[in-house]
Amino acid sequence: MSEQHLQSQTVQTTGHAWDGDLQEFNNPLPTWWVYTFYITIVFAVLYWFIYPSWPFGKGFLSGIPVPGISRIVYQNDKGETVESHWNTRALLQADLNQAAEMQKPYFSKVAQSSFSEIARNPELSGFVQSAGKVLFNDNCAACHQQGGQGVVGFFPNLVDDDWLYGGTFDRIHETLINGRRGYMPAFAEVLNAREIDSLANYVASLSGIAHDANKAASGKVLFASESAACYYCHGENAQGRKETGAPNLTDRIWLWANVPAAEKAEDKVSAIRNVIAGGLNKGVMPAWGERMTPEEIKVLTVYVHQLGGGE
Ligand code: HEC
Ligand code: HEC
Repeated sequence: MSEQHLQSQTVQTTGHAWDGDLQEFNNPLPTWWVYTFYITIVFAVLYWFIYPSWPFGKGFLSGIPVPGISRIVYQNDKGETVESHWNTRALLQADLNQAAEMQKPYFSKVAQSSFSEIARNPELSGFVQSAGKVLFNDNCAACHQQGGQGVVGFFPNLVDDDWLYGGTFDRIHETLINGRRGYMPAFAEVLNAREIDSLANYVASLSGIAHDANKAASGKVLFASESAACYYCHGENAQGRKETGAPNLTDRIWLWANVPAAEKAEDKVSAIRNVIAGGLNKGVMPAWGERMTPEEIKVLTVYVHQLGGGE
């Protein structure tokens, strides 16, 4: 053993030596460290008893519900007050209860106010913006998309100021409560191909799509005739009738006829022809009257009205 190592003998070692001269000091642990270690042990034991911990039989040790620490009181779906040991599901429910409790005064103000009062009142319209957005994302966005912009060919855009059934508070409210189902008969059964082609050219002419002027002229006559009776639903000037949900055909906004996707004018005309020949029966807007509270529907009505150009 070298001189140097003999000097270090003044410090206590464990007495073992490796590789001839490698020794291990035997210093005591720092006091702060030792006490922290004891505290963690005590903490762990308390934690086991208070919070759910070990698997036990078919279940687990659920812990002792200590008020303010590990006991959760919440209301279940039936409105009963339930007390439970700590668990994340109960915690979430308690949070939701709390949020609902905070929203209650707003919902009751909504119930007492008219649509335009809600829209004018800054506090209530702020509430509509936040609660309406959540309701919309949960129930409507699957079809109408997050921002309400819809999907061409499937779900109408709610952000623009083009309305099938009307964008007044009352019409939107009616749409939400009862749902809507647009229906247009298939004209291939009552008109011949030439007539349908004329009508398609007329409809194309209404929104500035290149068309055959002669065909459009006879289409115009047919549009207002009793045999095609387009006017009956779409109105004499083809600007739509909100009672039937028949859209304005002059506004260059297309929901069903796949006009925007077609590049050439003749394909646009043919997209219109397909709709006239085949009719429409696929636009189903579900009814929400039974699925939401009247206040929620009211909030959504104002929310949708504010989304785009409410009338
Ligand atoms: C299953 C898909 C679907 C869901 C979910 C849905 N909608 Fe609709 N909605 C439609 C369709 C399709 C139409 C068009 C109906 C038609 O053309 O007759 C429509 C039409 C509407 C209209 C009428 C638009 C107009 O131009 O007049 C409004 C307003 C509306 N929806 C709002 C909502 C709101 C608010 C919700 C959520 C509570 C919702 N929708 C949920 C499919 C849906
Ligand atoms: C019974 C009422 C009714 C009649 C009659 C009718 N339509 Fe329609 N039409 C509708 C409705 C409703 C829609 C929208 C369907 C929906 O929203 O679900 C529609 C949609 C359309 C569309 C698609 C518009 C778009 O935005 O994509 C075109 C084009 C059209 N109609 C043309 C005609 C022509 C041309 C005639 C006459 C041959 C006609 N319709 C007769 C009710 C009618």
